[in-house]
Amino acid sequence: MGIVDTDQRPGGTEASFIINRGEVYPIFIPSLEVFEDTTFLNITAADTITSAITRNPQGSLLVPTGKTMVPIYEELRQLVLDYSNITLNNLDGYCGGNPFRKGMFTRYMTDNLIGYIDVPSGSWNIPDEATRDPQREVERYQQIIDLHQPADLAILGIGENGHIAFNEPGTPVDSGVHVVDLTEETRLANADDFGDINLVPYQAITIGIGDILQAKRILLVAKGEGKREAIQKMIYGPITTDVPASLLRFHPQVTIMMDIAAGRDIFDFADVRHKYAFNPPVGINVDAKAA
Ligand code: GLP
Repeated sequence: MGIVDTDQRPGGTEASFIINRGEVYPIFIPSLEVFEDTTFLNITAADTITSAITRNPQGSLLVPTGKTMVPIYEELRQLVLDYSNITLNNLDGYCGGNPFRKGMFTRYMTDNLIGYIDVPSGSWNIPDEATRDPQREVERYQQIIDLHQPADLAILGIGENGHIAFNEPGTPVDSGVHVVDLTEETRLANADDFGDINLVPYQAITIGIGDILQAKRILLVAKGEGKREAIQKMIYGPITTDVPASLLRFHPQVTIMMDIAAGRDIFDFADVRHKYAFNPPVGINVDAKAA
Protein backbone atom coordinates (compact mmCIF):
# COMPACT_ATOMS: atom_id res chain seq x y z
CA MET A 1 0.00 0.00 0.00
CA GLY A 2 1.23 3.47 -0.86
CA ILE A 3 1.76 6.26 1.64
CA VAL A 4 -1.10 8.12 0.03
CA ASP A 5 -3.98 5.76 -0.38
CA THR A 6 -7.37 7.13 -1.21
CA ASP A 7 -10.21 6.41 -3.51
CA GLN A 8 -10.90 10.06 -4.22
CA ARG A 9 -11.49 10.64 -7.93
CA PRO A 10 -11.67 13.85 -9.89
CA GLY A 11 -15.37 13.38 -10.63
CA GLY A 12 -15.85 16.44 -12.79
CA THR A 13 -14.67 19.23 -10.51
CA GLU A 14 -11.79 21.58 -11.31
CA ALA A 15 -9.93 20.59 -8.19
CA SER A 16 -10.60 18.58 -5.11
CA PHE A 17 -8.63 17.48 -2.10
CA ILE A 18 -7.78 14.45 -0.08
CA ILE A 19 -7.15 14.11 3.60
CA ASN A 20 -4.37 11.79 4.56
CA ARG A 21 -3.23 11.46 8.16
CA GLY A 22 -4.88 14.74 9.06
CA GLU A 23 -3.16 16.71 6.26
CA VAL A 24 -5.19 18.26 3.46
CA TYR A 25 -3.76 18.02 -0.05
CA PRO A 26 -5.38 19.65 -3.07
CA ILE A 27 -5.65 17.44 -6.12
CA PHE A 28 -6.11 18.57 -9.67
CA ILE A 29 -7.45 17.27 -12.93
CA PRO A 30 -4.80 17.12 -15.62
CA SER A 31 -5.54 18.53 -19.02
CA LEU A 32 -6.25 15.50 -21.20
CA GLU A 33 -5.49 15.66 -24.89
CA VAL A 34 -6.17 12.68 -27.12
CA PHE A 35 -4.80 12.85 -30.66
CA GLU A 36 -6.18 10.87 -33.52
CA ASP A 37 -3.15 11.75 -35.58
CA THR A 38 0.18 10.77 -34.02
CA THR A 39 2.20 13.14 -36.16
CA PHE A 40 0.07 16.00 -34.96
CA LEU A 41 0.62 14.83 -31.39
CA ASN A 42 4.38 14.94 -31.96
CA ILE A 43 4.20 18.43 -33.44
CA THR A 44 2.01 19.70 -30.59
CA ALA A 45 4.32 18.21 -27.95
CA ALA A 46 7.33 19.82 -29.66
CA ASP A 47 5.40 23.12 -29.67
CA THR A 48 4.81 22.87 -25.94
CA ILE A 49 8.54 22.36 -25.39
CA THR A 50 9.31 25.27 -27.72
CA SER A 51 6.94 27.54 -25.77
CA ALA A 52 8.70 26.72 -22.51
CA ILE A 53 12.05 27.63 -24.08
CA THR A 54 10.87 30.88 -25.65
CA ARG A 55 8.93 31.92 -22.55
CA ASN A 56 12.05 31.65 -20.41
CA PRO A 57 15.24 31.53 -22.52
CA GLN A 58 17.31 31.31 -19.29
CA GLY A 59 15.24 28.46 -17.95
CA SER A 60 15.64 24.72 -17.53
CA LEU A 61 13.83 21.63 -18.73
CA LEU A 62 13.71 18.12 -17.31
CA VAL A 63 14.00 15.84 -20.31
CA PRO A 64 13.18 12.15 -20.84
CA THR A 65 14.32 9.28 -22.98
CA GLY A 66 12.18 6.51 -24.48
CA LYS A 67 10.71 5.53 -27.82
CA THR A 68 7.74 7.86 -27.32
CA MET A 69 10.04 10.85 -27.47
CA VAL A 70 12.06 9.94 -30.57
CA PRO A 71 9.73 11.59 -33.15
CA ILE A 72 9.09 14.51 -30.80
CA TYR A 73 12.83 15.23 -30.58
CA GLU A 74 12.91 14.85 -34.34
CA GLU A 75 10.35 17.64 -34.64
CA LEU A 76 12.15 19.76 -32.08
CA ARG A 77 15.53 19.63 -33.75
CA GLN A 78 14.08 20.94 -36.99
CA LEU A 79 13.16 24.17 -35.22
CA VAL A 80 15.62 27.01 -34.83
CA LEU A 81 15.67 27.71 -31.12
CA ASP A 82 18.09 29.61 -28.93
CA TYR A 83 19.47 27.10 -26.44
CA SER A 84 22.43 29.28 -25.45
CA ASN A 85 21.11 29.95 -21.92
CA ILE A 86 18.87 26.91 -21.53
CA THR A 87 19.75 24.03 -19.23
CA LEU A 88 18.58 20.51 -20.07
CA ASN A 89 18.63 18.01 -17.23
CA ASN A 90 17.83 14.39 -17.93
CA LEU A 91 15.36 12.60 -15.73
CA ASP A 92 17.49 9.52 -15.36
CA GLY A 93 20.37 7.36 -16.50
CA TYR A 94 21.44 3.74 -16.11
CA CYS A 95 24.26 2.45 -13.94
CA GLY A 96 25.74 0.36 -16.67
CA GLY A 97 29.26 1.04 -17.87
CA ASN A 98 30.00 2.74 -21.18
CA PRO A 99 27.44 5.59 -21.52
CA PHE A 100 27.74 5.45 -25.32
CA ARG A 101 26.90 1.81 -25.77
CA LYS A 102 23.59 1.01 -27.46
CA GLY A 103 20.61 1.50 -25.16
CA MET A 104 22.28 3.87 -22.70
CA PHE A 105 20.56 7.22 -22.17
CA THR A 106 23.70 9.32 -22.81
CA ARG A 107 23.89 7.72 -26.24
CA TYR A 108 20.14 8.13 -26.79
CA MET A 109 20.20 11.85 -25.95
CA THR A 110 23.24 12.46 -28.14
CA ASP A 111 21.68 10.59 -31.07
CA ASN A 112 18.23 12.12 -30.76
CA LEU A 113 18.71 15.69 -29.57
CA ILE A 114 21.97 16.96 -28.14
CA GLY A 115 23.97 16.12 -31.26
CA TYR A 116 21.72 18.41 -33.29
CA ILE A 117 21.20 21.49 -31.14
CA ASP A 118 23.47 24.26 -29.88
CA VAL A 119 23.27 23.64 -26.18
CA PRO A 120 26.56 24.78 -24.58
CA SER A 121 28.63 22.02 -23.04
CA GLY A 122 27.90 22.04 -19.33
CA SER A 123 24.26 23.04 -19.92
CA TRP A 124 23.15 19.48 -20.56
CA ASN A 125 23.30 17.20 -17.53
CA ILE A 126 22.61 13.51 -17.12
CA PRO A 127 23.60 11.08 -14.36
CA ASP A 128 27.04 9.62 -15.04
CA GLU A 129 26.08 6.22 -16.41
CA ALA A 130 29.62 4.94 -16.01
CA THR A 131 29.77 5.72 -12.31
CA ARG A 132 31.28 3.15 -9.99
CA ASP A 133 29.93 5.00 -7.00
CA PRO A 134 26.18 5.46 -7.59
CA GLN A 135 25.52 6.94 -4.16
CA ARG A 136 28.06 9.67 -4.73
CA GLU A 137 26.62 10.31 -8.18
CA VAL A 138 23.16 10.66 -6.59
CA GLU A 139 24.48 13.46 -4.38
CA ARG A 140 26.20 15.22 -7.29
CA TYR A 141 23.12 14.99 -9.49
CA GLN A 142 20.75 16.17 -6.76
CA GLN A 143 22.83 19.34 -6.43
CA ILE A 144 22.51 19.97 -10.16
CA ILE A 145 18.75 19.39 -10.13
CA ASP A 146 18.28 21.65 -7.09
CA LEU A 147 20.34 24.41 -8.68
CA HIS A 148 17.91 24.64 -11.60
CA GLN A 149 14.59 24.26 -9.81
CA PRO A 150 11.89 25.03 -10.46
CA ALA A 151 12.29 23.62 -13.96
CA ASP A 152 10.08 25.42 -16.48
CA LEU A 153 8.83 22.15 -17.88
CA ALA A 154 9.23 18.52 -16.90
CA ILE A 155 8.63 16.28 -19.91
CA LEU A 156 7.73 12.70 -19.06
CA GLY A 157 6.89 9.40 -20.64
CA ILE A 158 5.20 6.66 -18.65
CA GLY A 159 6.09 3.03 -18.04
CA GLU A 160 3.53 0.28 -18.48
CA ASN A 161 3.52 -0.14 -14.70
CA GLY A 162 2.87 3.59 -14.23
CA HIS A 163 6.48 4.57 -13.52
CA ILE A 164 7.66 8.08 -14.31
CA ALA A 165 11.35 8.64 -15.01
CA PHE A 166 12.62 5.50 -13.23
CA ASN A 167 10.42 5.94 -10.17
CA GLU A 168 9.08 2.44 -9.85
CA PRO A 169 5.93 1.56 -7.84
CA GLY A 170 6.44 2.21 -4.13
CA THR A 171 8.63 5.31 -4.56
CA PRO A 172 7.65 7.99 -2.03
CA VAL A 173 5.95 11.17 -3.24
CA ASP A 174 8.67 13.36 -1.71
CA SER A 175 11.60 11.36 -3.12
CA GLY A 176 14.72 13.05 -4.47
CA VAL A 177 17.46 11.67 -6.73
CA HIS A 178 18.08 8.02 -5.90
CA VAL A 179 19.42 4.69 -7.11
CA VAL A 180 16.75 2.27 -8.36
CA ASP A 181 16.72 -1.47 -8.71
CA LEU A 182 14.87 -1.84 -11.99
CA THR A 183 11.89 -4.20 -12.05
CA GLU A 184 12.04 -7.15 -14.45
CA GLU A 185 9.06 -5.62 -16.25
CA THR A 186 10.97 -2.41 -16.91
CA ARG A 187 14.15 -4.23 -17.96
CA LEU A 188 12.09 -6.30 -20.38
CA ALA A 189 10.32 -3.20 -21.76
CA ASN A 190 13.73 -1.62 -22.49
CA ALA A 191 15.45 -4.80 -23.73
CA ASP A 192 14.92 -3.87 -27.39
CA ASP A 193 17.05 -0.77 -26.94
CA PHE A 194 20.00 -2.94 -25.88
CA GLY A 195 19.34 -5.78 -28.30
CA ASP A 196 19.32 -8.38 -25.51
CA ILE A 197 17.73 -8.48 -22.04
CA ASN A 198 21.06 -9.61 -20.59
CA LEU A 199 22.65 -6.33 -21.62
CA VAL A 200 20.09 -4.21 -19.76
CA PRO A 201 21.57 -2.79 -16.54
CA TYR A 202 19.99 -3.77 -13.24
CA GLN A 203 20.17 -0.34 -11.69
CA ALA A 204 19.57 3.26 -12.64
CA ILE A 205 19.77 6.72 -11.11
CA THR A 206 16.62 8.77 -11.35
CA ILE A 207 15.37 12.10 -10.13
CA GLY A 208 12.59 11.60 -7.59
CA ILE A 209 8.87 12.26 -7.70
CA GLY A 210 9.43 15.20 -5.35
CA ASP A 211 11.85 16.69 -7.91
CA ILE A 212 9.33 16.25 -10.73
CA LEU A 213 6.53 17.85 -8.70
CA GLN A 214 8.65 20.98 -8.23
CA ALA A 215 8.57 21.79 -11.96
CA LYS A 216 6.32 24.70 -13.00
CA ARG A 217 4.57 22.59 -15.62
CA ILE A 218 4.52 18.93 -16.53
CA LEU A 219 3.92 17.38 -19.93
CA LEU A 220 3.40 13.62 -20.02
CA VAL A 221 3.21 11.84 -23.37
CA ALA A 222 1.82 8.32 -23.82
CA LYS A 223 1.44 6.28 -26.97
CA GLY A 224 0.25 2.77 -27.66
CA GLU A 225 -2.10 0.18 -26.21
CA GLY A 226 0.58 -0.89 -23.71
CA LYS A 227 0.18 2.41 -21.86
CA ARG A 228 -3.62 2.37 -21.78
CA GLU A 229 -4.01 0.74 -18.38
CA ALA A 230 -1.35 2.91 -16.76
CA ILE A 231 -3.05 6.05 -18.11
CA GLN A 232 -6.44 4.86 -16.90
CA LYS A 233 -5.09 4.17 -13.40
CA MET A 234 -3.13 7.41 -13.32
CA ILE A 235 -6.22 9.50 -13.95
CA TYR A 236 -9.10 7.53 -12.45
CA GLY A 237 -7.49 5.22 -9.94
CA PRO A 238 -6.54 5.93 -6.35
CA ILE A 239 -3.69 8.36 -5.81
CA THR A 240 -1.09 5.94 -4.60
CA THR A 241 2.62 5.29 -4.73
CA ASP A 242 1.68 1.92 -6.26
CA VAL A 243 1.04 3.90 -9.46
CA PRO A 244 3.72 6.61 -9.42
CA ALA A 245 2.10 8.62 -12.22
CA SER A 246 -1.09 9.03 -10.14
CA LEU A 247 0.95 11.28 -7.81
CA LEU A 248 1.08 13.86 -10.61
CA ARG A 249 -2.51 14.71 -9.62
CA PHE A 250 -0.97 16.75 -6.81
CA HIS A 251 0.41 19.13 -9.45
CA PRO A 252 -1.83 21.92 -10.79
CA GLN A 253 -0.30 22.20 -14.26
CA VAL A 254 -0.16 18.78 -15.89
CA THR A 255 -0.98 18.09 -19.52
CA ILE A 256 -1.24 14.53 -20.78
CA MET A 257 -0.98 14.05 -24.53
CA MET A 258 -2.07 10.63 -25.75
CA ASP A 259 -2.68 8.82 -28.96
CA ILE A 260 -5.99 7.01 -29.38
CA ALA A 261 -4.55 3.65 -28.31
CA ALA A 262 -3.25 4.97 -24.98
CA GLY A 263 -6.19 7.31 -24.42
CA ARG A 264 -9.07 5.03 -25.31
CA ASP A 265 -10.42 4.86 -21.75
CA ILE A 266 -10.15 8.62 -21.31
CA PHE A 267 -12.01 9.15 -24.50
CA ASP A 268 -14.86 6.88 -23.49
CA PHE A 269 -15.23 8.33 -20.02
CA ALA A 270 -18.31 10.55 -20.09
CA ASP A 271 -17.75 13.00 -17.27
CA VAL A 272 -14.29 14.30 -18.08
CA ARG A 273 -14.48 18.00 -18.68
CA HIS A 274 -10.94 18.57 -19.88
CA LYS A 275 -11.10 16.25 -22.81
CA TYR A 276 -10.17 17.23 -26.29
CA ALA A 277 -9.88 15.18 -29.40
CA PHE A 278 -7.32 16.78 -31.61
CA ASN A 279 -7.20 16.55 -35.33
CA PRO A 280 -4.83 18.62 -37.39
CA PRO A 281 -6.35 22.04 -38.08
CA VAL A 282 -7.55 22.44 -41.64
CA GLY A 283 -4.70 23.79 -43.73
CA ILE A 284 -1.87 22.00 -41.96
CA ASN A 285 -0.58 19.16 -44.02
CA VAL A 286 0.81 16.86 -41.37
CA ASP A 287 1.88 14.20 -43.86
CA ALA A 288 3.99 16.68 -45.78
CA LYS A 289 5.72 17.80 -42.55
CA ALA A 290 6.44 14.24 -41.53
CA ALA A 291 7.96 13.33 -44.88
C1 GLP B 1 12.02 4.35 -19.43
C2 GLP B 1 12.37 5.76 -19.02
C3 GLP B 1 11.12 6.57 -18.80
C4 GLP B 1 10.22 6.43 -20.00
C5 GLP B 1 9.80 5.01 -20.13
C6 GLP B 1 8.83 4.77 -21.29
O1 GLP B 1 11.71 3.55 -18.38
N1 GLP B 1 13.15 5.81 -17.82
O2 GLP B 1 11.49 7.93 -18.59
O3 GLP B 1 9.09 7.24 -19.80
O4 GLP B 1 10.96 4.25 -20.35
O5 GLP B 1 9.55 4.64 -22.47
P1 GLP B 1 8.94 4.42 -23.90
O6 GLP B 1 8.64 5.79 -24.40
O7 GLP B 1 10.04 3.76 -24.66
O8 GLP B 1 7.75 3.59 -23.77
